Amino acid sequence: DVVYRKFGGCNTVSIIDRYITKSKINIVIKNISHTLRKDFFMCGIIGYIGTKKCVPKLIGALEALEYRGYDSAGVAYIKNGNVEIKKEKGKIKNLKDTLDMDVDAYIGIGHTRWATHGEANNINAHPHKNGKVTLVHNGIIENYIEIKEDLKKKGYKFTSETDTEVAAALLDELYSKNSDMVKSLHEASKIIRGSYAFVILVDGDDNIYASRCASPMIVAIGNDGYYVASDVPAILAYTNKYMLLNDYDIVKLSKDKIEIYDKDLNEIEKEIKFFEGSMDAATKGGFEHFMLKEINEQDKVFKDTVNYYFDGTIKSLEKSFSYLKNFKKIDIVACGSAYHTGVVGKYLIENYANIPVNVEVASEYRYKKCFYDKDTLVVLVSQSGETADTLAALRKAKVDGITTMAIVNVVGSSIAREADYVTYIKAGFEIAVATTKAYLAQLAIFSLIALYLGYENKNINENEFNELVKEYNNLPALIKETINNDNYSTIADKIYDKKQIFFIGRGIDYALSLEASLKLKEISYINSVAYQAGELKHGTISLIEKDTPVIAISTDDSLREKTISNIKEVKARGAYVVYVTNETPQEKFYDDIITIKKIHPILESILTIIPLQLLSYKVAKDNGCDIDKPRNLAKSVTVE
Ligand code: G6P
Repeated sequence: DVVYRKFGGCNTVSIIDRYITKSKINIVIKNISHTLRKDFFMCGIIGYIGTKKCVPKLIGALEALEYRGYDSAGVAYIKNGNVEIKKEKGKIKNLKDTLDMDVDAYIGIGHTRWATHGEANNINAHPHKNGKVTLVHNGIIENYIEIKEDLKKKGYKFTSETDTEVAAALLDELYSKNSDMVKSLHEASKIIRGSYAFVILVDGDDNIYASRCASPMIVAIGNDGYYVASDVPAILAYTNKYMLLNDYDIVKLSKDKIEIYDKDLNEIEKEIKFFEGSMDAATKGGFEHFMLKEINEQDKVFKDTVNYYFDGTIKSLEKSFSYLKNFKKIDIVACGSAYHTGVVGKYLIENYANIPVNVEVASEYRYKKCFYDKDTLVVLVSQSGETADTLAALRKAKVDGITTMAIVNVVGSSIAREADYVTYIKAGFEIAVATTKAYLAQLAIFSLIALYLGYENKNINENEFNELVKEYNNLPALIKETINNDNYSTIADKIYDKKQIFFIGRGIDYALSLEASLKLKEISYINSVAYQAGELKHGTISLIEKDTPVIAISTDDSLREKTISNIKEVKARGAYVVYVTNETPQEKFYDDIITIKKIHPILESILTIIPLQLLSYKVAKDNGCDIDKPRNLAKSVTVE
């Protein structure tokens, strides 16, 4: 409570962390940090002021931010001196269909929502207006009920269930006293508890105002105007020049200038950054879906990721990974597909490095009793680097004094910034909600870690190492070949209308089954389960009946006979079996086969996942699903 009050009620852990380093009351911090700390970064926001019509700009930016949620979308713009609001339930396309894209407006704000307070409907959709203030918001105002009650007594009325409408009313109240939105935002920051990124229009005022606390926000400079947005992808179609905002910074955008004030209301200058990555990521580049495009980028992603750390010499690996030798145990912690790469990583590291690896889902790990010590390295895996549970697990380990390492895609993300060591994958922007190329790049990093530690432990000798160097060099071509060598459509056509699909495998093939099954169910909505092949008979086999699809993965020679026995067990019960393998079978115990080239086991999973990704894609396509934006999901999950 002391810390909470001392820092004005804003519960950002950056503040709590700094406090920890300067004080000796760690135990107090530790106890409260788990309850106080909540990240609610979902939802995407944008503002534009300039010489071009704003609605197409806002919609373009929202489309690029749709990975942050798509329960509803809305825009507000100034037309003939008045603020007009348009909002619509569902994806941005729904909103777009109702809009006049050519409306004569040059100042506007927009929002794409992932519902937290109140169901996903038009009333709860942003922007919200109260009095003179129209606002879009990303975050959670934790004391909104308190503020709402107070404002109700003062005569304010509310129509939605959102905390955002309360913020609009609060700012209206402050503005009615101050006639200055910068000052009002400053005062609001002392009242609001929680997280926010606001973008604001004020009746009778030709500026855009914005501020943030704990939710991300950037300001960007284009040739035809200025932008505020949640994230860089929002503005990449317009400009690559941007500035990062700190907590409590307040922005005022006018037609011809940007003013930024710090938490003490001093006007400040910000460093201008230039985004140097490719802008191609924001377009489908001729592919029907982002997911398909991203699957097709995997040869390059593998090459970029591996080449960054490995030039074929052990020295290069030592430069990046030598600190790993200091640890006797590893805990890998992550969510979703990133967790699944951790399961593959466990098999690789245990096999080659002889280090025990414990893999845990972050939402469990953050609340459980952890038996880590100074010899343990906690590895966080996250594409976005913002996943709330993974971030919380990282902070828990740090509070307990445990060394942390992050495998992350998004440069400068919270997890990357806070971990003791960071290994970036080089996947570039991933737009499809279902990850493919980031997953593959994470596997590439685990393969390098296993290679390095395996060599150091003498589990991999000089000859094997040299052979592996060749395989790393050849793999991009093989990845391309596997993507193009597509016989997966015919199999997809046979299973797309089934109610449930099983994936089985042993060892590392089981680890791959987990991801293959998640990929299928998240985009095609077909119930799917991954099972250790030997475990199926202990209950689940009762679900197998005539034509139930079972996708059986077998790439590990040492476990093959056992897996084949398990395949025969399901085949005997009428299953339709797809055998995914790197061998040429001597007998036909399957219905269809997907053959992958046989390569070193350290790399094999990288190749094996590709047909499984494509199979999921095609099944979802056969079902007419919204492949890039599956229902109820968001790419960056920043709520607990
Ligand atoms: C969401 C995404 C998944 C992703 C998971 C973890 O659930 O839909 O594709 O694997 O979050 O995300 P992260 O950014 O931490 O890898």
